[in-house]
Amino acid sequence: MIELAPSILSADFARLGEQVRAACDGGAGVVHVDIMDGHFVPNLTIGPPVVKSLRQVTKLPLDCHLMIENPDDFIPAFADAGADWISVHQEACRHLNRTLHLIKSHDCRAGVVINPATPVDTLAEVLDIVDYVLVMSVNPGFGGQKFIPAALHKIRGLAELRSQRGRNYRIEVDGGVALDTVADVVRAGAEILVAGNAVFGNGDPRKNAEGLLKAATEAALLKV
Ligand code: DX5
Ligand code: ZN
Repeated sequence: MIELAPSILSADFARLGEQVRAACDGGAGVVHVDIMDGHFVPNLTIGPPVVKSLRQVTKLPLDCHLMIENPDDFIPAFADAGADWISVHQEACRHLNRTLHLIKSHDCRAGVVINPATPVDTLAEVLDIVDYVLVMSVNPGFGGQKFIPAALHKIRGLAELRSQRGRNYRIEVDGGVALDTVADVVRAGAEILVAGNAVFGNGDPRKNAEGLLKAATEAALLKV
């Protein structure tokens, strides 16, 4: 099932509630929340208080993408604030297995993220644990960057591994997903589509979400 996950990174934070509601009205299935610490990535964003406020705005799952060092220190706070899904970067976790179990122990879905330079092979030992894998199709840190096409073979690889191993993790893609790239990521096998700039950059987030979802759903129908 294809789901659109608007990333609030490109939203107007002074009107966050209104913009998130508009994206939800446009058919969003998940709300993607980018957490940056200025160390793991060269940018700073938000923390648990904003997640807590968002929890009042929507009933959709809050998908917290932690681009932070020492994620174990903050996972409990994000879970308490109302996160439903929490993903951590393979590159940021010294004890990835432990961190994924920590997320699950807080009753959240556990995801692992790989940067553009990180191969799918590095996840071999955790694919049996995770609920979802997030493939970065830009270098994390900023919205509105250009899609890196090498993400496509990684998405395909994850879909192949899933059927070979009989697993059921979902595949999410993040970065540069817009009307001109969405069909490619869906055809490669991505199911959860993060989009920041394409939803909140210009115009009406509701209409933008509807348009992206329509293009994604059409690509999925052509796939089979
Ligand atoms: C990048 C973030 C993304 C970002 C995507 O570090 O993880 O979620 O918001 O933005 P777009 O869709 O504009 O590339
Ligand atoms: Zn993200």
